[in-house]
Amino acid sequence: MNQRIALVSGGIGGLGTEICRHLAASGHFVIAADLGVRTERIAAFREETADLGDRIRFEPLDIASFDACAELIQRIEAGHGRLDVLVNAAGITRDTTLRKMSQEQWHSVLTVNLDGVFNLCRNAVEGMCTRGYGRIVNISSVNGQTGQFGQTNYAAAKAGMHGFTMALAREVARKGVTVNSVSPGYCETAMVMQIAPEIRAQIIEDVPVGRLGKPSEIARVVDFLVAADSGFITGANIPVNGGYFMDF
Ligand code: CAA
Repeated sequence: MNQRIALVSGGIGGLGTEICRHLAASGHFVIAADLGVRTERIAAFREETADLGDRIRFEPLDIASFDACAELIQRIEAGHGRLDVLVNAAGITRDTTLRKMSQEQWHSVLTVNLDGVFNLCRNAVEGMCTRGYGRIVNISSVNGQTGQFGQTNYAAAKAGMHGFTMALAREVARKGVTVNSVSPGYCETAMVMQIAPEIRAQIIEDVPVGRLGKPSEIARVVDFLVAADSGFITGANIPVNGGYFMDF
């Protein structure tokens, strides 16, 4: 079998980097897409993935632009012959109570976290269906399941992502394409480190396992879902949250 080609949005981020590493280690060629202006982070990412250097490539991309997403996916398909795996891991927060939230804070979170998923999936799914194979994983959040104080924008986008996941899963199930979401809890990422220390400490107290998750603990679930023999899992949401939110 040819090497699988994977695209990870938010690929140089806290979870994205580890997802790229896991996918490369399991034999994928990985394109890590993220904002080209993050020059320091891009340099750090290159160092962090140097051991897998020939299997991971960085591509600048603003997922808020539909045309840029289309152009990148066309280029990947032209260069590699296909795109097998899409992981939507790009996400931002603009936390504040709704009473203080500006339209800009609302729209920026919805644009990146939800429109970005549309922009990439809309462009990726056609080729996946035509080729009869695809794996899409959307990185949602436990806060899309429970809501969180100060996150009406983020919770709306993350919950929306899962509705999108289930709907698209139904549309492409007969074409060999699976679509799932992973809902991480609080992990050791820059995003979580932005939370005020006393609030973060309170959150960690409420996590049954008593600690933040490690990005690798999210990445291994993503790697599992994108495997060729995970084809019977679709429209699912896999919670990885240390027991912070339990349901069935
Ligand atoms: N629950 C209940 N009340 C709270 C509260 C809480 N968690 N936090 C603050 N309040 C109260 C305040 O005491 C204040 O009360 P008064 O009006 O009586 O003084 C009122 O609510 C308003 O508080 P603020 O003015 O401080 O509100 P703010 O608009 O400045 O926002 C906040 C506060 C920054 C949102 C802060 O609450 C916070 O950081 N919350 C945590 C947000 C969070 O968990 N974000 C996750 C980021 S990581 C991530 O998203 C990754 C992932 O997927 C898990």
